Amino acid sequence: MTRPVLAVASECVPLVKTGGLADVVGALPRALADAGWGLRTLMPGYPGVMAKLGPASEALSIDNLFGGPARVLALRHDGLDALVLDAPHLFARDGSPYLDAGGRDWPDNDLRFAALCRAAARIAAGAMGGWRPEVVHLHDWQAGLVPEYMAADGTRVPVVMTIHNIAFHGLAPASRMGVLGLDPARFTLDGFEYYGQVSALKAGLVGADRITTVSPGYARELTTPAFGMGLDGVIRARREVVSGILNGIDTGLWDPRTDPHIRRYQTPRGKADNRSALRAAFDLPDAAGPLAVVVSRLSQQKGLDLLLDAVPGFVAAGGQLALLGSGDRALETAWARAARSLPGVGVRIGYDEPLAHRMFAGGDAVLVPSRFEPCGLTQLYALRYGAVPVVARTGGLADTVIHANDAALRAGVATGILHAPDDTRALADALEQLIALHADDAAWKRMQGNGMKHPVGWESSSRAYAALYQSLVA
Ligand code: ADP
Ligand code: GLC
Repeated sequence: MTRPVLAVASECVPLVKTGGLADVVGALPRALADAGWGLRTLMPGYPGVMAKLGPASEALSIDNLFGGPARVLALRHDGLDALVLDAPHLFARDGSPYLDAGGRDWPDNDLRFAALCRAAARIAAGAMGGWRPEVVHLHDWQAGLVPEYMAADGTRVPVVMTIHNIAFHGLAPASRMGVLGLDPARFTLDGFEYYGQVSALKAGLVGADRITTVSPGYARELTTPAFGMGLDGVIRARREVVSGILNGIDTGLWDPRTDPHIRRYQTPRGKADNRSALRAAFDLPDAAGPLAVVVSRLSQQKGLDLLLDAVPGFVAAGGQLALLGSGDRALETAWARAARSLPGVGVRIGYDEPLAHRMFAGGDAVLVPSRFEPCGLTQLYALRYGAVPVVARTGGLADTVIHANDAALRAGVATGILHAPDDTRALADALEQLIALHADDAAWKRMQGNGMKHPVGWESSSRAYAALYQSLVA
């Protein structure tokens, strides 16, 4: 018998994904099932999600959820126990989960995700045919208001809040409190008030019984003003209940021996075919130097503006770069221009899951020069696919890659290259080291082999989550 958990998130693989949040929310149920916890995951019914649903049963119906009728559909999808909030007045629109077709935040995002939280609180109270979770697990600001609504209903179920990225606070003007059905008495320093506004993330952080984030390194960084983004004080005040649990990857979906998107391989040697195919896909000529790849959102966080400055030196030294990404319009334009002006650089602007698999499989190295990175998943895919990660020394990147310094190389344990974050010079030096290591066949094969053996699955982290849940219900 598994013990019931309600997970709440704005995205979840395989139904909807814009970033790593979806990968992790989608992988956790599988990872925790063996430990005896049965997760049901509540997410919004965006058009893309509704289109993928097979037969579903109506588990809950709500006559008026912030201005329109809504229902919660329950179904099994690809092993996932999904609960989908179908509320057409909030979610049936073209665009992404968070942005309209013009790339702007939906003006009523506060209400859209408050609705997700309101429905979650109803489910936590047992409104869904008597199914009652023993633990409620919230992910990021979109789920942050759940404890407020649970308190309003008088529901007592232990709550875990996981921070995937503290940069997004889910702010709304104080004047929205009435529309959102929030208790003005809680609009205080100890409640969800944040510099005169409502913060959904802060509501989650003050209301949860336990707070986790996605790496031990980021858990430490979050207590500092440089990384806490205005919420470091809240994190420090709740230090006793904060912990870092490293993300894993779904090693079933990301397996170079079985991946349907690539030429499958067992050893680093199998990479050559995938590399040739990738060069062809990006119109890059054959070359002796390393082919580095980037698969990323294009945002300030990811430090790809720094890479724009470092890349001419890298290609001049014989390296090549293939980049797949989308996001910030100015960065999209700058990278498209770099591809036109620099032979050795290929760029694809867009979001393409199969191509992402082919890039990890074909790349010699994966670059992640982030300014901050709560965990990061692409360096983990890189390790698994025999691509050497070159990453900034921050957050989860520093927790998952063993730097190729002299000691690590001599001991034969290095898996990648680390450099100081937010520093073009340091990034350029790291790319120089990449070229040199790639030219040393024995050292290079050793690093690739080490990476492919490095544990990147959920084994130890699922035990940590299970222990956390257990501590709350004991
Ligand atoms: P974040 O969640 O901050 O974007 P992560 O490294 O945790 O960063 O996760 C990013 C996820 O999104 C990875 O699975 C990565 O492969 C995927 N991804 C990012 N950009 C793209 C893209 N343009 N096309 C396909 N997959 C992408
Ligand atoms: C966030 C972070 C990323 C992390 C992902 C999954 O999007 O930016 O570092 O890997 O969530 O936890």
